[in-house]
Amino acid sequence: MPYTRRLTSITLLSMGVSALALSANAFETTTPPVPPEFPAEAKVTYVPRDSILEFKALDSYSQPDWVAKFEEAGKLPPLKERLPEEPLVYKTGNMPDGIGVYGDTLRHVVGGRPEGWNYIAGQSQGWGGIDIALSECLTRTAPLFQVEADETEPLPNLAKSWEWSEDGHKLTMHLVKGAKWSDGEAFNADDVMFYWEDAVLDPQVSPLGGGASPEAFGEGTTLAKIDDYTVEWTFKTAFPKQYLYSMAYPNFCPGPSHMLKPVHPKYSDNTYNQFKNAFPPEYMNMPVMGAWVPVEYRPDDIIVLRRNPFYWKVDEEGHQLPYINELHYKLSTWADRDVQAVAGSGDLSNLEQPENFVASLKRAADPDAPARLAFGPRLIGYNLLMNFSGNGWGNPDEREQAVRELNRNHKFRQAVTSALDRKAIGDSLVKGPFTAIYPGGLSSGTSFYDRASTVYYPFDLEAAKAALKEIGLEDTDNDGFVNFPAGTAGGKNVEIVVLVNNGYTTDKSLAEGLVGQMAKLGIRLVINALDSNQRDSAHYSGRFDWAVRRNSTELSSVVQNTEQLAPVGPRTSWNHRAPEGKELDIMPFEKEMAEVVNRFIGSQDNAEKAALMKDYQKLYTENLYTIGLTEYPGALIINKRFSNVPAGTPIYMFNWAEDSIIRERMYVSADKQGNYELFSEQLPGKPGDGGPIN
Ligand code: GLA
Ligand code: CA
Repeated sequence: MPYTRRLTSITLLSMGVSALALSANAFETTTPPVPPEFPAEAKVTYVPRDSILEFKALDSYSQPDWVAKFEEAGKLPPLKERLPEEPLVYKTGNMPDGIGVYGDTLRHVVGGRPEGWNYIAGQSQGWGGIDIALSECLTRTAPLFQVEADETEPLPNLAKSWEWSEDGHKLTMHLVKGAKWSDGEAFNADDVMFYWEDAVLDPQVSPLGGGASPEAFGEGTTLAKIDDYTVEWTFKTAFPKQYLYSMAYPNFCPGPSHMLKPVHPKYSDNTYNQFKNAFPPEYMNMPVMGAWVPVEYRPDDIIVLRRNPFYWKVDEEGHQLPYINELHYKLSTWADRDVQAVAGSGDLSNLEQPENFVASLKRAADPDAPARLAFGPRLIGYNLLMNFSGNGWGNPDEREQAVRELNRNHKFRQAVTSALDRKAIGDSLVKGPFTAIYPGGLSSGTSFYDRASTVYYPFDLEAAKAALKEIGLEDTDNDGFVNFPAGTAGGKNVEIVVLVNNGYTTDKSLAEGLVGQMAKLGIRLVINALDSNQRDSAHYSGRFDWAVRRNSTELSSVVQNTEQLAPVGPRTSWNHRAPEGKELDIMPFEKEMAEVVNRFIGSQDNAEKAALMKDYQKLYTENLYTIGLTEYPGALIINKRFSNVPAGTPIYMFNWAEDSIIRERMYVSADKQGNYELFSEQLPGKPGDGGPIN
């Protein structure tokens, strides 16, 4: 192994020197400054969990008149046969504006591009809530932002109810009975079992979102079909209610097994790659359980979705949902989403790029502005991820391997974090009270955040430089950049490649800021900016030294994607995964973090959970599991013609706003309806047919 000698030399070097100099150059830490107050955070009205929805049969059901005509013409089965025995019923009392009317279009704009429709094989649909509109999951968590804190348990969805066995090791789930895919095929336990066995448990298939690995449901967990509408989970631990969150988006949203099974490698001659790409973006009318079905795709232009006539949710008067007939996804840029939403040519945006805050606020302040804009809590954060795999994730070459060893060195991480002027980083995005000093770890906007348990290394460039010297990184050739010690990576300049999402101005601004600040420390950064789909594939396959990354839900909610808080399994961490066929080379502090997270997952006691998250935060921020960059609040921008948008919907908490606002029960009152439908009075056609049917 060519690595061994070099690694040993660098480890010895750092150990020998730092043992002597440890106290002399120890970093001073403190708690982070109190984040500034920002203007008008919208207030949420908290409600009991059971006030949102229920499952029950109603006396009668109705649909838009033009859909009834399809039924009359014999092109659709009667509505009652399309609906489950007991549909999901949204309660009127929880609808901000009450029962709605049919019609109109919800016009989204996205910066992503679709790879295809095989969500469970990890294909991106272009983000911005497209996949969220198509996929329905066993449970649902996004609307929990409005549920009273002591009642937050995931809401039923495809699993309409569940019971725990007396000893807490078994969980029996009842699936919504008689629900259909958008092509009329039955949804049942076979779809659930196919997803579990041939997506989650198949190591060569990893569903979108990067997280759905078996560990997300607990080590040794099994799932069995009892009958067509009952499945049973068996867990090693008792009452691990936390896993109900893993059964929500993005981890347990089954695909149509009647379409996917015949093309899966286990049941066909296909390769995994052929399976993944079996339903390219041009393939129309892919069966979904969601409220709208893709019927039109024009590259770099638009994706159009039409209402699903088999949708299994209704309002209390029996109107089949959704109220809105059509969804648009204009294929543009994320920055353009903000611009179009405030201008009124788009309907919705998560204002999440601070570079657009000032212009958007100005425009929305006009009483005649077409859109409302409301800030939520400070839950958008960015971290610098350092690849911690020292044993091969992403097949590093010599330089990359040497960087991994630096990444794994605490003193090195201390040097990097101390060399960051976070005030300057925040101000480079937007001036004013929005951004806060963020040392990493849990978002200051979550209920689990504890400032006193947060370790902050203040900006101290001199201490940072001294630390590099201590671990043997010196500029031996006087070109301004420190070199690896002789014998490591050819003694060349320490050059680190940072993976960046090309689709976001913010990600690029942060990366450019880092390049400048790291240069002052004597470290040369090279930006590798890729489009989102390529960026994600580089990330998930471990091909990065460092990565600038917008936080995901585990840091903004703690209870969602909890297993992603630490390397509790070989594939749960964002910066430390095991290469295929090898063990995770976990470091002692990561092991402690994983233990805390596992205890959190197993705990039923709220006080204990809160205490565990304090320990977690301390371990994370002291050891610099990742390097925090900045955090700030986001704002939801939504066109004023829409009703039933809950006040204070955060753009990101348990999931993105596109899920939290419950689009299937949003509507536009008759007097405000626009004329935007491209496929008026048309429904999705057969799977694979080129477009909607009249
Ligand atoms: C992208 C956007 C987010 C949100 C999500 C939904 O990541 O940046 O604002 O719309 O898609 O998946
Ligand atoms: Ca040099």
